[in-house]
Order: sequence, then structure tokens, then C-alpha cells
Amino acid sequence: MQLAAVILAAGKGTRMKSGLPKVLHQVCGRAMVEHVLQAVQEVSVQKTVLVVGYQGDLVAELVGDSVETAYQAEQLGTAHALLQCCDAFKGYDGDILVVCGDTPLLRHQTLSQLYAEHSRSGSAATVLTAVLADPTGYGRVIRNATGGIMKIVEQKDAVPAELAVTEINTGVYCFKAEGLFEALSQIRSDNAQGEYYLTDIIEYYIGRGDSVGAVIADDFAEVMGVNDRCQLAVVEKVLRRRILDRLMMSGVTIMDPASTFIDDTVDIGADTFIYPFTFVEGKSKIGENCRIGPSTRLVNVTLGCRVNVQNSVITESRVDDGCNIGPFAYIRPGCVLEKDVKVGDFVELKNSHLDQGCKVPHLSYVGDADVGRGSNIGCGTITCNYDGVKKSRTWVGAYAFIGSNTNLVAPVVVGDGAITGAGSTITKDVPPGALGITRDKQKNIEGWAQKRKNHLAKTEE
Ligand code: UD1
Ligand code: MG
Repeated sequence: MQLAAVILAAGKGTRMKSGLPKVLHQVCGRAMVEHVLQAVQEVSVQKTVLVVGYQGDLVAELVGDSVETAYQAEQLGTAHALLQCCDAFKGYDGDILVVCGDTPLLRHQTLSQLYAEHSRSGSAATVLTAVLADPTGYGRVIRNATGGIMKIVEQKDAVPAELAVTEINTGVYCFKAEGLFEALSQIRSDNAQGEYYLTDIIEYYIGRGDSVGAVIADDFAEVMGVNDRCQLAVVEKVLRRRILDRLMMSGVTIMDPASTFIDDTVDIGADTFIYPFTFVEGKSKIGENCRIGPSTRLVNVTLGCRVNVQNSVITESRVDDGCNIGPFAYIRPGCVLEKDVKVGDFVELKNSHLDQGCKVPHLSYVGDADVGRGSNIGCGTITCNYDGVKKSRTWVGAYAFIGSNTNLVAPVVVGDGAITGAGSTITKDVPPGALGITRDKQKNIEGWAQKRKNHLAKTEE
């Protein structure tokens, strides 16, 4: 039998109180709909149709070409949304897995279980349910005296006895394609919300003698739907813990999971140690045997092995094996730090390449610069890369020594092995091996301090 999938993602998500469509809100670094899509694709469906509507272009653009899209111009309810896929399934007679775009914790194993039961029973529809301590907000699953499923009643339409039911509809279903769209077109909107409810198809099928099955999910946390930002925070916490557990099981030490925030898109090598209050975001990759944190934020970075980063922020940059960063470094986009580079306290780097073994130990700004292998950038060095109109680069050769408090006024080149005198403002290129120095010669005035004291004492009188 063939299996295809539909993800319902056309709703605005009114309860989110947001300008962004609900399914684009992020959970651990990825939009909710991306999480759902990944789970669906891991079930190896032969195709996926995404129903978009509210800001549909934004949603479609995010998921890219891996899915077909169907457009629901007006959000008239979940049955109406699924009906928009009618054309996409012309001539298809396999099964269709339907999921909502707002259940980002769903795992592919659970979808496979649902499909296996659906295939085994041969039902026209099989619904994934769950039993919740607090079922508020969800559709309730109403069963008959013998335990057979009869219908699903939405919270807003339920009578008190139905509200007391703790088995809920997860919004995940498997349907036989045959007859599905015909049945959907029969559903009416005479309910509390005036919407075409997909859930009504259950009662419709039962009423005409088709069989409907149900699978109860083992883990209720997995099927949580996100309708508002409080639920978004709950789901974020569950997924975050799942990610941390996966990393710990693969050999990463996380000293305090409660204060560690790692996106789903991140890779970390074995024997890396993560200290508390650390954030690793986006497409970041960290090698083995690193020590990260405490109080560190890494966004879209690639770190090699044996890298130490403490109390620092690094974004969109590459840091190779054996580098030491921080405390209190700020490495902005476009930096490449080759092996064994040291970037110490209160250093800001931007769009710069530091070759192997370079040191920028303290209190410097290095922007738009190329620094050669083994060079030392003294405390307080500043690349003056901006003249108020344009940015210019600074080139420092290999094994150069930039004295403390040097201003390197770009564009400027300091050659291999050259030295700059502490406190110099370098506006002209320094040839290889030369000293570039721009400060006055020092003169000492003997006895001047005592003379001044005497003078001051006199004027006091
Ligand atoms: C739905 C179910 C409810 C279930 C819950 C599980 C219905 C009528 N109710 O309620 O039984 O317990 O999910 O989380 O189906 N959507 C569209 N077009 C629309 C309306 C919705 O594409 O016209 C999409 C939304 O983008 C969302 C999904 O369908 O991804 C579910 O819609 P939502 O409004 O969240 O339904 P719930 O009230 O949560
Ligand atoms: Mg919902």
C-alpha cells in the first residue's frame, strides 16, 4: 500500500497574538512546521502536501521544494483545509497521513505505529489519541459502551459529561484516500466556531457504517499542540530536554541541563564539556574534547576539537582545533581562527582571518584584518577600519609583533616579522622586519616632581 502525507498549516494562529503565522514560530531553533515535516518524511511517505494559507508564501518558502503545497484562501476549518488537497490526490488510492503543523514534538516512530495499525485493521480512518491529565482545549474522543470510537467533540461544543473525558484527539489521522474527499465535502459548519471540522468525519464514517480505529499514543507529551505562547514554552522545554538527552547519550557532558540551551540543528562531538548558561544555536558544529561555557553563546559557528570558549559570544565564524577564547571575547561574523589561536579578554573581532598560533590576548578591536601565522597583537591594539565612509582592511604578516596600544589605520600593511612601537599610530606600511614607531622621544626632567610640590605649597600660603 502507498502512503502520502498532508500537513495542515494554513491557520493564522489567532491565539499566538502574532504577526507571524503560527507554524513558523520556532521551537529549539526550527519552525514548528519543520519539525513536523521532518517526522513525516522519516516515515518515508511517497509525497507530502502542505496546506498553506495565512502568509502562505512565507510558509512555503521555508519548507522549500521537498513538498507540494495546496492553498487554502480562507481558513474555514481543518476539514476545509484538507479538502484543498483534493486535486493533489487525483487518481491516488493509497493512504493519507494527516498531521497538524502545530505539533512539533511528534516522533516518526509514533506516526509509523499509527500507520501500521491503520494498515492492519483496514479501517477507513484511524485516529491517534492520547490520555491527558488536563485535556482542556483539545477535542474529546467519545467512545461507546464497548469502547468503540463514536465521535470527536471539540472543547467549545462539548457538554459537561464530554468535557470530563480525558482521551483527546491529537489531530493526527490516517485515512484511506478512497472516498475521503467526497466525505469531506459532506461536512457542515453548524458548530460553536462555525468551522468545517475535520473531526466530524469520524461520526460521518461511523454513521454510514465505515470502520474507524484509534491508537492511543504512549507519550502524551509528544502530541501537545501549540495554540498560544504558554504552550510554545512548554513544548520548547520538552524538546530541549530531548536534544540534551540525545547529546548526553552520544558522549557530551552537560553539567546542568536546566541552564543549557542547544538547538535541534547542532552537532557536538564526544567528550566535549558544556558548562552552565550556555546557548548553542543554528547550524553550529562543535568538535570533540571542547570546553564550552559558562555563559557562552555560539550562533552558526564551526568549532574544531579541543577548543575552549568561556564567557564569550561567537557568531557566524570558524574556530579551529586548539583555540582558546575568552573570557569576555566577542567574535562577530566572518572570522576564521586557524589552529591554536588565542583570543583573550575584552577582545572584539569582526570579519578577520587569524592564522595559526596568533595571539590577541587582551583589550583589542580587530576588524577587517588578516593576521599572519604566529603574530602577537598587543594589548589595546585597534584596527581603524572605518573612515566614516568605507571599510578598509589591515594586513599583518607572519610573526609580527604589534606593540600595545597601536592604532593600525587601514588600509595598511605590516610586513612579516615587523614590529610596531607601543602607542604608535601606524598610517603607512611597515616593511618586513622593520620597526614602525610614531611616538615622540621621551625626555626626563630631573627633580621636577619636588619642584612642583614646592610651587604648589607656596601658592597655598
Ligand atoms: C485541532 C482539532 C482538535 C485536536 C487539536 C490537536 C479540529 C476541528 N480540532 O484543534 O480536535 O484536539 O487540533 O492539537 O480539527 N488549519 C488550517 N486551516 C484551517 C484551520 C486550521 O490549515 O482553516 C491548521 C492550522 O494551521 C493548524 C492545524 O490546522 O496547524 C490545527 O488547527 P488549530 O486551529 O490549531 O486546531 P485546534 O483548535 O488546535
Ligand atoms: Mg492546535
